[in-house]
This record gives sequence, structure tokens and C-alpha cells, in this order.
Amino acid sequence: MKSAQQTPETAAAPVRRFLEPLTGKVASPPPIWLMRQAGRYLPEYRATRAEAGSFLQLCYNPALAAEVTLQPIRRYGFDAAILFSDILVVPDALGQEVRFVEKEGPQLDPIRSEDGLKRLDPAKTREKFAIIYETVARLRQDLPRETALIGFCGAPWTVATYMVGGEGSSDQAQARLWAYRDPKAFARLIDILTDVSIEYLSGQVKAGAGVLQIFDSWAGSLPDNEFARWVIDPTRRMVAALKERHPGVPVIGFPRGAGSATAEFVTATGVDGVSCDTSMPLCAMRELSELNIAVQGNLDPLLLAAGGPAMDERIREILAAMKGRRHIFNLGHGIIPETPPENVARLVELVRAVG
Ligand code: CP3
Repeated sequence: MKSAQQTPETAAAPVRRFLEPLTGKVASPPPIWLMRQAGRYLPEYRATRAEAGSFLQLCYNPALAAEVTLQPIRRYGFDAAILFSDILVVPDALGQEVRFVEKEGPQLDPIRSEDGLKRLDPAKTREKFAIIYETVARLRQDLPRETALIGFCGAPWTVATYMVGGEGSSDQAQARLWAYRDPKAFARLIDILTDVSIEYLSGQVKAGAGVLQIFDSWAGSLPDNEFARWVIDPTRRMVAALKERHPGVPVIGFPRGAGSATAEFVTATGVDGVSCDTSMPLCAMRELSELNIAVQGNLDPLLLAAGGPAMDERIREILAAMKGRRHIFNLGHGIIPETPPENVARLVELVRAVG
């Protein structure tokens, strides 16, 4: 007879090297995974994507989404897998329909007034989130025991830039304008996203995710007072709520483009790790690692696509700069589709040769 209900995580806690830098230890060689490690640069991804029909159909198909998550793990044996999904499933689940148009990226019917917020219904998210939790549960069963599973969502600010803009943009002008013109209404949108994202990440943990990453890809577009209000505050609220519910689950923040505000982001939000973009100098990454956190990054995805001696040299520089520190090797942003898969194999080989 079973004495207590055991989750796959507690049944026999496996050793996952990925967790070491996030829990205060230095690992040599550093653990490695890559943002967008499941994606169009892999022929097997393109085949599964074609089978699924559209990108969103792939995100909402647990068997196929789990399959593409596993593909880069089989090929390269990364230390962590990241759930295959997208940050825009949150607005989609809230009722603001999202379409991915080939070569143009995401498109949404923009919300730019308080009235538009009525289109969003947090109660409605349960249905679509349940599908994603099923993917997470499958993954935790199918992944090698030593591979960590990262759950994720977009940060409220970055998700809001797409919801307000209706598409990707280089300056996030529509969201910034709305936030300046009507900060009260914009704060309501951010609050809705913060609450829903806490539930969403908590659901991913319950389904089997052991680490969480919050992607704030457009954190760098805000002046400091707005950065505090729309980036730091909601992230702090998310981290606090998640720590209360799931104290053992580390949270990584990715305030892309935050530059010299990154240290403030780290201390004010309480994240366990910070992902650094390609523009972060290695000396600044070293300084961040003194803040009692893990530092992730930051090879240029374009250098990974280019490969050759320049790539080898930069990989060695990053490894040397972060030696003896709580480092997780990663890119500064997602892999680009043009990347030759053999360059990724070379990267993993060089990182694993350390130590
Ligand atoms: O990292 C992973 O392997 C997990 C999967 C993942 C995807 N998107 C899959 C994806 C993750 C973590 C994301 C996050 C995401 N999505 C972000 C934050 C990180 C970042 O890149 O800044 C953002 C801003 C998005 C929104 C998004 N999704 C855009 C702008 C686009 C179009 C651009 C593009 O690359 O096509 C997407 C589509 C998308 N998300 C693809 C993948 C694999 C490509 C879709 C396809 O197969 O056609």
C-alpha cells in the first residue's frame, strides 16, 4: 500500500547538475542549455512542425510538443530541457486570439484601452493551460532523470508589448505610449498578466517543471522609473508568490537589454539566476555573480551561426571569465534558424571539455 502520494520529483531525488549553480554551488564544466534549443535549425523540428500544421497547433499538442522538446536533448544531451511552447499562449488563453503568420511573426487584435481589457477572461485560461501541463507531465516522464525541466512564461511587460502593439515591434511604442497616457489602465493589464502568470508557472511546477524562467525580452526599452514599475515590480511579485508556493524551485530572470539596471533587477526581484544578453560585458557578468545568484549566458547567437575559430575563441573566453563562479552556459538570446546543427555540437564539446 502506498503510504503517501509521491510526485515523480520526490520519489527519489535525482542529481541534476543543472541545479547546482542555482542552489549555491559551482559546477565544472558549467551546465549548458540554449534558448530556443528546439527550433527551425533542426531538420527533425521542421518535420514535426509540418506534421502539426501550424505553430500554435504544435504548442497545443502534448505529444508533438513533448517530442520537439526532446529532440535537442537526444542530439546534444543538454543539462536542461525547456518546455516547448511560446510566451504568447498566455494572451491566447485569456481570449485575445494569437496568429503566427509565416515570415511575419505573431499577430493579435491590439488592446489599447481600458474597455479592451474586457476581452480578457482569466477563468478561461484553465482550458488551454491544462493542455500545456499535460506536455510538462509527459516530459518529466520521458526525459532522462539527470535532465532538468525548465518551465517558462513571458514577463508581464514583454507579453503586454505584444498585446498592445498587436505584433512584434523594435521600439514597443504602443505599449509605452499607453503606459504614459493612462498608467492606471495599463497597470490593470500588467496586474492581470502577473496574476495569470503566477498561476500558469505554478501549474507547470505541479505538473513536473523543476526550474522556471521568466522571459522579459523587451525589458531594455524602458527608462529607469518605468523599468522599476513595469519590469521589476511585477517580476518581484511573481517571484515572491512562486517562492511561497514552491520554495525549492529556482527562478531565472531574463531582463534582456537591461544593461546597468540588471544588478538592481537581481536584488529587487529575488531571482535565483539571471540570464545575460550578448551585450553584457564579461566583467559585468562576473560582478553579477557576486550577488549570490547564478549567471547564465551569453554567447552571441550570430557567432554560433557563423562558427569557426572565432566561435571557439569566444566560447573559451566566456568559460575562462566565469571559471569558479556559478555559471550556466547559454546564448545571449535564442538560436537563429540559420544555425548549422554541427556548430551546436562543437559548442557542447568545447564546454564539456572544461574541468
Ligand atoms: O527555447 C525554447 O526552445 C522553447 C520554446 C520557445 C519559443 N518561444 C518557441 C518558438 C520559447 C521559450 C519562446 C519564447 C518567446 N516567444 C519569446 C521570449 C524570448 C525571445 O526570443 O525574446 C518571445 C518574444 C516570443 C514571441 C515569438 N514567438 C515571436 C516574436 C516569434 C516569431 C519569430 C520567430 O522566431 O519566428 C515566435 C515564434 C516561435 N516561438 C518559434 C519557436 C520555435 C518559431 C515558430 C515556427 O516554428 O515557425
